[in-house]
Amino acid sequence: MAPKTTLLALLPLLSPAIAWGTLGHTTVALIAQSLVSNKTASFAKSLLNDTSPLYLFNIATWADSYRYTAEGAFSSPLHYIDAFDDPPTSCNVDYKRDCPEEGCIVSAIANYTTRIAAANVSRAEQEKALKWVVHFVGDIHQPLHVENLAVGGNGINVTFGGVVKNLHSVWDSSIAEKLVGGYTVDYARNWSTALVGEIEGGKYANVSRFWAEGMDVTDPVASAMVWARDSNAKVCTTVLPDGQAGVEGKELSGAYYENAAPVVEAQVAKAGFRLAKWLDRIVQSAGKGYTTKEVKEEWVKRGGVQLEDWMVEARRKRRECGWECGCAEGVEGHVH
Ligand SMILES: *[C@@H]1O[C@H](CO)[C@@H](O)[C@H](O)[C@H]1NC(C)=O
Ligand SMILES: *[C@@H]1O[C@H](CO)[C@@H](O)[C@H](O)[C@H]1NC(C)=O
Ligand SMILES: *[C@@H]1O[C@H](CO)[C@@H](O)[C@H](O)[C@H]1NC(C)=O
Ligand SMILES: *[C@@H]1O[C@H](CO)[C@@H](O)[C@H](O)[C@H]1NC(C)=O
Ligand SMILES: *[C@@H]1O[C@H](CO)[C@@H](O)[C@H](O)[C@H]1NC(C)=O
Ligand SMILES: *[C@@H]1O[C@H](CO)[C@@H](O)[C@H](O)[C@H]1NC(C)=O
Ligand SMILES: *[C@@H]1O[C@H](CO)[C@@H](O)[C@H](O)[C@H]1NC(C)=O
Ligand SMILES: [Zn+2]
Repeated sequence: MAPKTTLLALLPLLSPAIAWGTLGHTTVALIAQSLVSNKTASFAKSLLNDTSPLYLFNIATWADSYRYTAEGAFSSPLHYIDAFDDPPTSCNVDYKRDCPEEGCIVSAIANYTTRIAAANVSRAEQEKALKWVVHFVGDIHQPLHVENLAVGGNGINVTFGGVVKNLHSVWDSSIAEKLVGGYTVDYARNWSTALVGEIEGGKYANVSRFWAEGMDVTDPVASAMVWARDSNAKVCTTVLPDGQAGVEGKELSGAYYENAAPVVEAQVAKAGFRLAKWLDRIVQSAGKGYTTKEVKEEWVKRGGVQLEDWMVEARRKRRECGWECGCAEGVEGHVH
């Protein structure tokens, strides 16, 4: 077990086929860097002890490495929420139903949002909290991170450009990479510059005004649920418009890609924009002596919903899969 864990922990650093996952996360981080206030930038640089021009970029995928360590294994379930809905007929996400005892991406965003600037949290833990929020605000914008079906699409085999993949990894990486041409820092930098231009004066200039709706740092679960519902809706409209059978075993780099790419791009732009606004609010509140007491804490009280049998089975399957979920089809499917 130990040697295997070590090898897997190294894989993201060694293999370009896996290193991609960085593209979405690093682009989101760079967009946020462009849009945050100077006060937020100084706050983050200081907490991260990184005054370089890539201070958020540098930590954007930390959470995906940390989850493979013994210390960070508990954070594996925090990268997603398994919405027990029924795409494409019905898409919906319900915090009390879908977020289990071990937590989910919504409870994690809430928890770590309150810990970034909390006086009774150590500096080291505040730093981790910031790294998690930067990463999870990215993940929650990937529709298959807000979907239970086939373990978030990890169990759906497809091909992309003739290569066998699972649907989750196609949405994590293949679509974005095909759109942009690569996954290295230069690609992320150019993509983020282009998307910031679209937000400030291009195709997203009008709509981005609405992207901050529902954002309230004293009710982080309600805020993250707005983002989760937005993502989850894309499962019905764009990820699985014809259900699982519409993609299973199919080649997705043609018409499917053409339809999906604009959605992937808008989700990345939205995530960067929302991350910037969210961090600004956290830092503003911190300046006002914000304490976790002022935060609505119902988010801790989740569960209490009678699950249907298939939901119990789906949750068992996800837990059994654990951090190795998707491994059978190649490691890339579950890196994010
Ligand atoms: C923010 O910082 C940038 C460069 O670091 C500077 O050019 C700009 O004037 C600052 N803005 C404000 C409002 O202080
Ligand atoms: C910050 O980084 C500098 C140089 O990279 C290092 O010497 C210092 O110990 C770090 N401080 C903290 C608090 O980690
Ligand atoms: C919040 O995060 C801390 C640090 O990772 C963790 O120990 C704690 O269990 C979390 N609380 C909740 C309610 O998720
Ligand atoms: C990034 O943009 C610059 C300037 O337009 C260009 O010269 C460079 O080739 C681009 N890099 C990538 C990887 O697209
Ligand atoms: C934004 O809205 C204005 C006013 O309604 C309109 O004239 C403009 O064409 C819109 N821009 C885009 C990119 O949709
Ligand atoms: C910090 O203080 C708040 C408010 O008093 C409390 O709810 C919270 O549990 C404390 N957190 C830790 C990590 O001690
Ligand atoms: C997906 O492919 C893997 C091997 O690449 C295979 O083990 C698995 O059974 C396939 N799943 C489905 C649902 O066809
Ligand atoms: Zn992740």
